[in-house]
Amino acid sequence: MSRELSATSGVRRIEIHPSLLAADFAHLADEIRDVEPFVDGLHLDVMDGVFVPNISFGPVVVEAVRRATRLPLHCHLMIAEPSQYISAFRDAGADTILVHIETLTDPVETIEDIKASGARVGITLNPETPTHRVQPWLPAVDELLIMSVHPGFGGQSFQPESLKRIRWAVHQRDVHGLALCISVDGGIGPANARQVAQAGADILVAGTSVFRAPDRRAAVDAMRGAHPFTVSPP
Ligand code: DX5
Ligand code: ZN
Repeated sequence: MSRELSATSGVRRIEIHPSLLAADFAHLADEIRDVEPFVDGLHLDVMDGVFVPNISFGPVVVEAVRRATRLPLHCHLMIAEPSQYISAFRDAGADTILVHIETLTDPVETIEDIKASGARVGITLNPETPTHRVQPWLPAVDELLIMSVHPGFGGQSFQPESLKRIRWAVHQRDVHGLALCISVDGGIGPANARQVAQAGADILVAGTSVFRAPDRRAAVDAMRGAHPFTVSPP
């Protein structure tokens, strides 16, 4: 992703990734075409009914989405054995593969496998999982996805404690000089996007607030702010 920070203008660009979970799956290609002109990537929620209490879709749908768009595809794997499916999702067209730390028995191996596949690698954690679980792996990944709801369903309320986690991630990035992209997923919309971005998020994932909005472009514009987000002074 383009984590552009201009020292002179003091502004940076926030990416908005709609979560397809809130789209109309009977018209998926149309839904994608509708948002494509004004979003930065698509977030695909893969759920297995084991790691999370819901089932969504797998590589077949990712492959169909790949044929419908050139947008970067970020596959959020909420599945019990992600390491077994990396090549399947990469072959289907995933540009970024995000795996939950709670599901990894050998994080080094999984991270290396994702890298070897050619995909960007992201690590994610549930709201109740302590941040020290992901800390050792931050230098090895491209992206940290902070869950701001319990995974499994769209349409939940943003958990405000997530803001502290975003600030923690920014601190880790700064202190250790990491090239880490920080993304946040769950309950994000025009009402809180600015707060999430100002805490330091680079990517905002938003399902309900985009696909269920009466005017999707206006919702995304509102999340970006009328002007680029101003970076708070250190
Ligand atoms: C939750 C998913 C989220 C969800 C976001 O398990 O990981 O990506 O679809 O949806 P909203 O924006 O509706 O909370
Ligand atoms: Zn997600």
